[in-house]
Amino acid sequence: MNKKVFVKTYGCQMNVYDSQRMTDVLAPLGYLETDTAEAADLVILNTCHIREKAVEKVYSELGKLRDMKAAKAEQGRDMILAVAGCVGQAEGEQITKRMKAVDLVFGPQTYHRLPELLEQRRSKGRAVVETEFSVDDKFAGLGREQVRNPLSRAVTAFLTIQEGCDKFCTFCVVPYTRGAEFSRPQAQVLDEARKLADQGVRELTLLGQNVNAYRGVAVTGAPSSLGKLVAELSLISGIERIRYMTSHPRDMTDDLIEAHGSNPKLMPFLHLPVQSGSDRVLKAMNRGHTANDYLKLIARIRAAQPAIALSGDFIVGFPGETDAEFEASLDLIREVKYASAFSFKYSPRPGTPAAENKNQIPEDAKSGRLARLQAVLAEQTKTFNQACVGLTLPVLVEKPGRRAGQMIGRSPYLQSVHLEIGTDHLGQIVQTQILAVGSNSLSGQYRPTEKGDASV
Ligand code: 5AD
Ligand code: SF4
Repeated sequence: MNKKVFVKTYGCQMNVYDSQRMTDVLAPLGYLETDTAEAADLVILNTCHIREKAVEKVYSELGKLRDMKAAKAEQGRDMILAVAGCVGQAEGEQITKRMKAVDLVFGPQTYHRLPELLEQRRSKGRAVVETEFSVDDKFAGLGREQVRNPLSRAVTAFLTIQEGCDKFCTFCVVPYTRGAEFSRPQAQVLDEARKLADQGVRELTLLGQNVNAYRGVAVTGAPSSLGKLVAELSLISGIERIRYMTSHPRDMTDDLIEAHGSNPKLMPFLHLPVQSGSDRVLKAMNRGHTANDYLKLIARIRAAQPAIALSGDFIVGFPGETDAEFEASLDLIREVKYASAFSFKYSPRPGTPAAENKNQIPEDAKSGRLARLQAVLAEQTKTFNQACVGLTLPVLVEKPGRRAGQMIGRSPYLQSVHLEIGTDHLGQIVQTQILAVGSNSLSGQYRPTEKGDASV
């Protein structure tokens, strides 16, 4: 009989990718994916440590799962409980000490060894904790061609090309949980991309903590770059759209900026976090650039691709941030005009330099600043979306909508677009006139062209 696995994913797209790969490596062991813990024989929490009360949230979830596991045991059913991801990496044995019901703890670098860890758990009869770093193995051990999981088949896919970070921003836990920067060899990435294209994927989002620092080795043996990789990927037949995230301003190289102007498969959307508009705060964050450097960079990118839509990340209430420094972030936002953005209250992460700073900002001041910043960003998103009304945009049709006859796709600017169109258009890029803006999406009308639509 088939066993069932439920993976609950927290945090970033890298974790979404990792969760999919975990279900892939488990498929040959007979595990099918399910979407409830209740139905599962193996429950994996793929955790995130980046902000807020991440650890507490995991323990509270584990408390519920422990009770579920006990209830299942009474009915004679086994349930293996695993903690993966960045909390697993950071907490290690703490977890199995505090929560005896947990069977497995492993970090982001070890999921390819999941079958072996499960076997160890079975043979040893006690909890297994594995938090070694060995990124190379992780990607080499992947078998994307084995994937036969109906839940993860799609026309868009994430593809991790780079992992880890050497930048050590003083607020960030990533260099400690994901380890040093590592880029997958270019041939390995191209190979995975070709398989995805064969499976029907039309849009790739290349992932990495510092994706534009990509330096994977090319077939020549020399280090490649994200610009070169994008050029190679766009030659793969079937791949119509390429995106990447998350980028660091310091790694926006000339060839990548140039590609935004010259490569039509590279989507005109860029997530380029700046975190703050204050030079003093940027320095204290160890970002390695000033606000003006960032603005100049944006101007160069816009010169290469005037249509580009920008997105960013902002932190409010970094230790010592004054009112005037916070205002500098608002000024920068007003100057850039973002299409969308993420913003967060600073959250002290154990082990990071900024967490030691004595000038922590009170919670209510952080909340007030966040509300003001988010109001400005929300207004900008609305303005950006409104400006799309009346335009005809190429929309990649991704999935059925909630209503019959309705499909959901994405614009080049990553907006969700609802349109009335047959399911036979799934995976196609169709010209869609944008008619209205909803709360989280746009709606539009299919406008068939005489030439027909791109890409099947
Ligand atoms: N507190 C608040 N936000 C953080 N981020 C990273 N670390 C922290 C932290 N300690 C935000 C940054 C980053 C995004 C992924 O999460 O804005 O770009
Ligand atoms: Fe964290 Fe900074 Fe690295 Fe991004 S660049 S992952 S914010 S340390």
